[in-house]
Amino acid sequence: MGLMRSALLAGSRNAWLRERAMRTSFVRKSVSRFMPGETLDEALAAARSLQQSERLGSILTHLGENLTSPSEAEEVTAHYLDVLERVRSGGYDCEISVKPTQLGLDLDPELAFRNLAAIARRALELSNFVWIDMESTPYVDPTLSLFHRVRSEAPSIGVCLQAYLHRTRADLEALLPLGPAIRIVKGAYSEPPSLAIARKADVDENFYFLCTRMLRPDSLERGARVAIGTHDGRLVERLQRFVTEAAVPRGRYEFEMLYGIQRGLQRRLLAEGWPLRVLISYGEFWFPWYMRRLAERPANVLFVVRSMFR
Ligand code: FDA
Repeated sequence: MGLMRSALLAGSRNAWLRERAMRTSFVRKSVSRFMPGETLDEALAAARSLQQSERLGSILTHLGENLTSPSEAEEVTAHYLDVLERVRSGGYDCEISVKPTQLGLDLDPELAFRNLAAIARRALELSNFVWIDMESTPYVDPTLSLFHRVRSEAPSIGVCLQAYLHRTRADLEALLPLGPAIRIVKGAYSEPPSLAIARKADVDENFYFLCTRMLRPDSLERGARVAIGTHDGRLVERLQRFVTEAAVPRGRYEFEMLYGIQRGLQRRLLAEGWPLRVLISYGEFWFPWYMRRLAERPANVLFVVRSMFR
């Protein structure tokens, strides 16, 4: 892992830095590039604008992780239930994406299960869909177990798998008999080489393998659906070729990107008629999430530095 990336990921967990950065105006200004605002209203307004101007659907995620009390997890659950109602009543094309530690996974797996199940059941009733984000490696097993349990009650749920982990191919094979919805991403946390593939080119290759594994006839027959979560133009093109050559039915795959990243690529996909959604993050607790975005592309740090002088 590059030095800059390691430093940014270490910084993402530093409380002192978080306190200061969140109050600093040039940091707040540069965050706005990736986040339309801190409130649900601002996120919905951005989703509305994308939907109306580009027919682009969204996924909403309220930032926050590693909560410390059950009441906070219950507040987050109530918030997501409200989001589902607002999406329905406002006619938005928006799914939601949740982090298990926001729902209480650190505190009590049963609490996280109850919270996630309540959200997924309501999403099912409202014909909406819930994605489960994947956090750092200690959470992979508990997250997959949550996914299994909740999905058996409310199938309107998908889970994220990270291509940088050595274990992910085996995890995917174990999930395939369910005919699941899975979002494949490269992975955004700092993990040791014993757990994560070190070379970027190998992560990219594994990403391609995992997506195409989801799109092979035996997976599709079982009902699999893949969300291809990347801004990597080369991978996007390779997967477009695969989907075209294998005549994969529409509805079994979509591209997913983050709000504000690779807008040119997003517009090209939309203009060519490819299925695409963007994930819109909002909330006051944006610091660790923002540091992970900087770590993904150290050139973003230059952007922050430049905005210091504007
Ligand atoms: P890569 O990092 O190779 O970037 C490819 C190109 O995209 C770069 O060269 C650059 O041009 C552009 N780019 C990428 N990131 C950028 C940035 N921050 N700023 C500016 N340009 C950028 N991770 C995780 O561990 N758990 C999860 O649950 C999720 N969920 C998730 C959902 C969705 C919809 C997406 C798109 C991503 C995630 N991720 C995630 C994040 C993911 O793991 C990964 O860190 C980022 O997507 C960056 O990797 P890329 O695949 O874009 O490739």
